[in-house]
Amino acid sequence: MSFYQPESITCNGSTFRLFISREQLESRIAALADEINRDFAEKKPIFIGILNGAFIFLADLMRHVSIPCEVDFFKLSSYGDEKVSSGRVTELKDLDADIQGRHVVLIEDIVDTGLSMKYMINRLNEKKPASVSVVTLLHKPDASRHEVELDYIGFEIPTLFVLGYGMDYAQEGRNLAQIYVIEEEPENNS
Ligand code: IMP
Repeated sequence: MSFYQPESITCNGSTFRLFISREQLESRIAALADEINRDFAEKKPIFIGILNGAFIFLADLMRHVSIPCEVDFFKLSSYGDEKVSSGRVTELKDLDADIQGRHVVLIEDIVDTGLSMKYMINRLNEKKPASVSVVTLLHKPDASRHEVELDYIGFEIPTLFVLGYGMDYAQEGRNLAQIYVIEEEPENNS
């Protein structure tokens, strides 16, 4: 089986170069899963993937989890087709599972301003879980506008637009097996 992992890629007219390789992703994700296995042993956590962006990260992370657990999904939209957050969160799919009294582990691809994560945590707390913990593969600390506690962070990155490994630009690029970063955008001389 071969993964789709070019050195660079053009997506919707913007060029992206390799930023975090599959090897780096694999070893960091295995280490995050070790921490989760240790911290949630005996707690039978329910992992909640935030769609669409978290689907690849969640799938890879869960295959390293060796304790009893469940999975469900919540779907949000905040970026629309742009490279900056719209500042609004739209709820597109609620949970199917009843999480009252359960230990919930939220799985997110990337925390940028923190708006989506803050929304998710408030929304889940209404359902009276025993606890809510947060795992994010990427975090842009300098972009933070909303205070949220992140319990497990894969990589802290500068405030740059990234693509691949589940993350999109106007819905494209999610199928890339590695994470890419946007090259300097061409100057607009008009
Ligand atoms: P926030 O609400 O501003 O923290 O943005 C979080 C959501 O915006 C993520 O779940 C992604 O869907 C999207 N997002 C933020 N930064 C990027 C990026 O650099 N590339 C692709 N999507 C991003």
